[in-house]
This record gives sequence, C-alpha cells and structure tokens, in this order.
Amino acid sequence: MPLEAMQRQEPIVSESLHMSPDEFRAHAHRVVDWMCDYFANVEQYPVRSVCRPGEIAAAVPDEPPQNGDSFDAIMSDLDRVIMPGVTHWQHPSFFAYFPANSSPPSVLAEMITSALAVNCMLWVTSPAGTELETRVLGWLARMIGLPASWQGVIQDTASSASLCAILCARERFSDFAVNERGFAGGDKAGRMTVYTSDQAHSSIEKGAKIAGIGRENVRVVPTDQNYAMDVDALREMIEADRHKGMSPIAVVATVGTTSSTAIDPLRPIGEVARQHNLWFHIDAALAGTAAILPEFRWLHEGVELADSYCFNPHKWMLTNFDCSAMYCHDADVLKRTFSIQPEYLRTDAGGVIDYRDWGVALGRRFRALKLWVVIRSYGVEGIRRYIRHHIDLAQEFAGWINEDPAFELLAPHPLNTVCFRWIADGSLPDDQLNAANKKLLDAINDTGEQFLTHTKLSGRYTIRMAVGQTRTLRRHVEAAWENIQRLAAGLA
Ligand SMILES: Cc1ncc(COP(=O)(O)O)c(C=O)c1O
Repeated sequence: MPLEAMQRQEPIVSESLHMSPDEFRAHAHRVVDWMCDYFANVEQYPVRSVCRPGEIAAAVPDEPPQNGDSFDAIMSDLDRVIMPGVTHWQHPSFFAYFPANSSPPSVLAEMITSALAVNCMLWVTSPAGTELETRVLGWLARMIGLPASWQGVIQDTASSASLCAILCARERFSDFAVNERGFAGGDKAGRMTVYTSDQAHSSIEKGAKIAGIGRENVRVVPTDQNYAMDVDALREMIEADRHKGMSPIAVVATVGTTSSTAIDPLRPIGEVARQHNLWFHIDAALAGTAAILPEFRWLHEGVELADSYCFNPHKWMLTNFDCSAMYCHDADVLKRTFSIQPEYLRTDAGGVIDYRDWGVALGRRFRALKLWVVIRSYGVEGIRRYIRHHIDLAQEFAGWINEDPAFELLAPHPLNTVCFRWIADGSLPDDQLNAANKKLLDAINDTGEQFLTHTKLSGRYTIRMAVGQTRTLRRHVEAAWENIQRLAAGLA
C-alpha cells in the first residue's frame, strides 16, 4: 500500500478498532461493579451449575461475529449465556474437591497483571517479574519452614511441578543422557521405576507417563490404616525391583492426600530415598498452606531430606488460580533438565535468573505479583487466622458427625477435610451403603445449597467435606450439616 494511503488509513483503523481510553475506563468501572455485585450476591446462585451438557455451547453461535459487538451486548450475554454454566467455586458453601479460593487483593493483582500483560520468560523480559518471584518465593519458604538454601519457582500447577520433578529424577539418574539421546537404544528404557502411594494424586501417574517412564513402572505403595504410605512396603518394593534389574529413580510422598488429607511420613521416606539414591519429591498441594501455622509445622517433619517440594497457594492461600510454588534442593538439576539456548533467546544479562529454564513452558505469566499483593495485604498473621478458622470449622463438623449414630467418620481429619458416610442404624452391608451415600450426595448437590464431592476409601463410598472457601462462615457449615441430616433422614 502506498505510504500516503497508509497514513490516511491508520488513524481511522486505530480509532475504530480499539476502545478509546475513556471507553475502557467506563467499561472497566462497570466490570468492577459487576465483580462487587457478584461477590455480594454469590450465595444466590446454586453452587454447582444446573445446566445440562451442551446447553452453553448451544447458546453460543457456531460462527464468530464478523464485526465487533458492543461491550454492552457482551456483558449482557455474560449474564444470560455464561453465568448459568458457572459452578461457583467462590461460593461460601463450596465444599467440593479442594478449594481454589481467591480474595479481593488477589483479584485486583490479577487485573494489574492482565493490564501489564508481560511475559516473564527471561529476566530481561521483565526484571520485576523475575526478581519479585525470587523474593516472594523466599518469603513463602520462610512462612512454611522450608530449608533456607532451597530455591523456588512458580509453576502453573502441582501437576506440572510433579512432572518437572520426575523429569529431574530421570535426568539425574541417566546423567542427562535421556535428554540427549532419548530412550531409544539405551539400556534404561522401560526399566526406570517411580514409587508413590495408593492415595497419591493421579498427576504422579500422568507425570510418569509423559516422562516416558510408563504407567506400568509406577509402583503403587500400599498405605496404613490412616492412608499414609507404608514405608516398610516402599523399602521392600524398591529392593525387589533392584533384584529384578529395574532402576528405581524417584519416590513421591504426599502431605495431605486428595481423598482424605493423609500425611505420608516424610523422614523415613526420605531416609529410604537417600539410601537408594532416589529423587524425593513432596506433593503438598493443599496442605502446604497449613504449615504456615506454627502448630502445623509438624506436617513438614523431615522435609529437608527432599530434592523437590511443591504446594499450591492457588488452593487454600487466597491466591487466584493458577499459582504453584515449587522448590528444589539443587536447582541446577532443574536448570540442566530444562535449559535450551536458541539464539533468539540469548541475552547479555549476567548473574540473573531466567525462569524459562526452570520448567516446561517458555512463556510465563507474572504470577508473583498476586502472591506479593496477597501476602502484603493479609500479612502472615492474617493468613494464619483465616486457615485456623477453616480447620476449626472442619474439626467442629467432624465432631457433629461423630456424635450422630447415623453417620461415621471414615478417615482421620487432621486439617480442613472430613470424610464420612451415612450408616443408618449400622446394619446395612457396604454395597447398599455405597448406593445410599451416592444418592445422599446427589440429593445434597441437587439442592444447589452446597456442593460436596466423593471419593472411595477402602472400597467405601465416602463423602468429603472440604472447608476452605474464602467467605465460608460457621453458619454455612451448620447449614450444610442440617441439609445432610435432613436428606439422610429421608433415605432411611
Ligand atoms: C495432593 C494433590 N496433588 C496434586 C493435585 C493437582 O493439583 P493441580 O490442579 O495444581 O495440578 C491435587 C489437586 O487437588 C492434589 O490434591
């Protein structure tokens, strides 16, 4: 296009294409008002979305709009089309899975992050992104009592952190040969083994699949009556594998299992790992947050024996999804596992961290900002008060279950999650109780007043009550218990 024509066209394009600063300001205020109303009214929504499969997709046209819609139209469709398909994780009666809670300071920080929209892949692509990440992860390490020499990095999720740990284990074991030559032709293919308990999160198995270890080579270590890893069994399985010519490379322990928040014994597991030269990773996705409480520091007894560790501030620490804090005893292994140096990413900056070398993705969001804002806004004491509140509520709920002969607890409840089932008068066999408890859970969730989820423990259908939402108060837990008792009475 001739220059003259371009000059003629350019202002017209930019004026008509983008929101003007004034329009953006007005829309942004409207969005903030929308958010305030949402927080104020969140209890009026059914916690779990009641929409049917395909309903939301059917309300969104097949074809994209050829010309832009007005922001008014978009906001009105947000309420009309999208909101019915939202399950309200920020509802105070969200007791399902584990929480993914947020907080006003974290939401504000996310707004700033999205305005800056930087990519923190290298130090030079945003020095503040890198240096704040290092600093804030240092704060967090001190808050939960990790060794001072460990170095941290923010991954998107605990699943990614576990994958990184398994890849590090593979590379350290093979002296970085798999990175260079792959498994092909090597004598190691199909012979590496990874150990984790029968209560570990499925992401460990997934990580082992992706890392080329193979699902069959994940050894599932049995657990004791408290659902914690049986260390004698671990030792025997490692020795039996060695005897068969297999190569044990890693053990993954869990602090706070997904089903019941069981705590694997870190010190004896760490000692076995040291003895057999295994990479020792600790997955504390939810429970790491509880270690901020001095009275829960015992959760990390033996943590210093680990090679890597992760917990998710995005679960229980008031920080919007996604934000997973991963630490390494020797970050050089992590860097050697992931580092790659294309010409177009070389920089002259010396003595700096380029976090792109510390994980799978090149591009990285400025996640440290929300952690910084959350920790500064609440302070360590504020976060402690809020975690204690959840744990106290869960303990009180467990007490109610214990006192009612029509219910029983199915696992220890050291933290914020209570596993239980309805047992009627105690005379029904397990298969009938399994069906009845599924019916009870469906009935609770169909009221829309609460959302709880289930697991299986020792073959028994188990209802889980996980207390961890930012706005949960005692009255919400009481209402849940009343609803559960009322609906269970109808089953009898
Ligand atoms: C113990 C444990 N590990 C890992 C995960 C996976 O977390 P993410 O979604 O961050 O990958 C969970 C999820 O609940 C979990 O409970």
